[in-house]
Amino acid sequence: MQTHFLDLNQLNDDEIMELIRLAIQYRDGKLVQLKRPVYFANMFYENSTRTHTSFEMAERKLGITPINIDPKNSSVQKGETLSDTVKTLQAIGTDGVVIRHKTTGWYEPLIDDERIHTSLVNAGDGSGQHPSQSLLDLLTIYDEFKKFKGLKIAIVGDLLHSRVARSNAEILKRLGAKLYFAGPDEWYPSDFDNFGEFTNIDTIVGKVDVMMMLRVQLERLNEDARESFTAVEYANIFGLTEERGSKMKKKAIIMHPAPVNRNIEIADSLVEAPQSRIFRQMQNGVFARMAILTSILKSKDLIAEDEYEDIN
Ligand code: NCD
Repeated sequence: MQTHFLDLNQLNDDEIMELIRLAIQYRDGKLVQLKRPVYFANMFYENSTRTHTSFEMAERKLGITPINIDPKNSSVQKGETLSDTVKTLQAIGTDGVVIRHKTTGWYEPLIDDERIHTSLVNAGDGSGQHPSQSLLDLLTIYDEFKKFKGLKIAIVGDLLHSRVARSNAEILKRLGAKLYFAGPDEWYPSDFDNFGEFTNIDTIVGKVDVMMMLRVQLERLNEDARESFTAVEYANIFGLTEERGSKMKKKAIIMHPAPVNRNIEIADSLVEAPQSRIFRQMQNGVFARMAILTSILKSKDLIAEDEYEDIN
């Protein structure tokens, strides 16, 4: 049982399937009782709408009291280190801390510190991992196809800077999907060769089951890179345009972690098209995060197991 939730690689395939099943049970109305009041701090050093709100919603639905800390108005501005901030939140009585931070692997120095026993939840680390997004993406794909093995999945766009691309490439490959990548050459991390095939969007759009589009991570690009293409050029060469969308297989779905740059990586009209699961992903995010938080609560023996109630 895991006290921290940092990277899907810490879980085996069965544990991942268990989280997916638990998320589905929560979506179906399962309720849970806590043994005592539980408090989680949410601290987002990088901007967030979906992940932050959906962690908070998941916490509230489970009966956890969320404490939202805005790093812009906190002692972080006075130079406090992440480790001291986490220890402070622990001293004040939080059972867990959900953190998004621009440093890839922000949690590494903290997990080796024996004085830290508040649970750490990774809500996105730089260009590293975004495990809760991956879990909600897995749930969305599973809803549709009831399997991962043998599915053909394209991940397209800013592969180098996107933590969604990296966490999904690793886990989808492990679960048996066949992966294709497309996007600008300069944003292709060569180690992605371990997970799938780098090709171009026109070769794959008509043959995959999932078109997973990525946001261009403007905030992680330097000025030269930002000016190396225009929105129109990007859309024409790498984007899911209406024309490309029309070539998708009938049962194929479109995914995107959002926020979406409409008409850059994806045509405006496709964001809410019938084959799009973009808002479904956001709905699933709450239930996936309830499952993640439950695994932490269980590891701390904070759930009154016998009071699980299935309202189906
Ligand atoms: C993603 C992120 O922050 O990595 N957003 C999200 O959590 N849904 C994707 C992105 O910002 O492009």
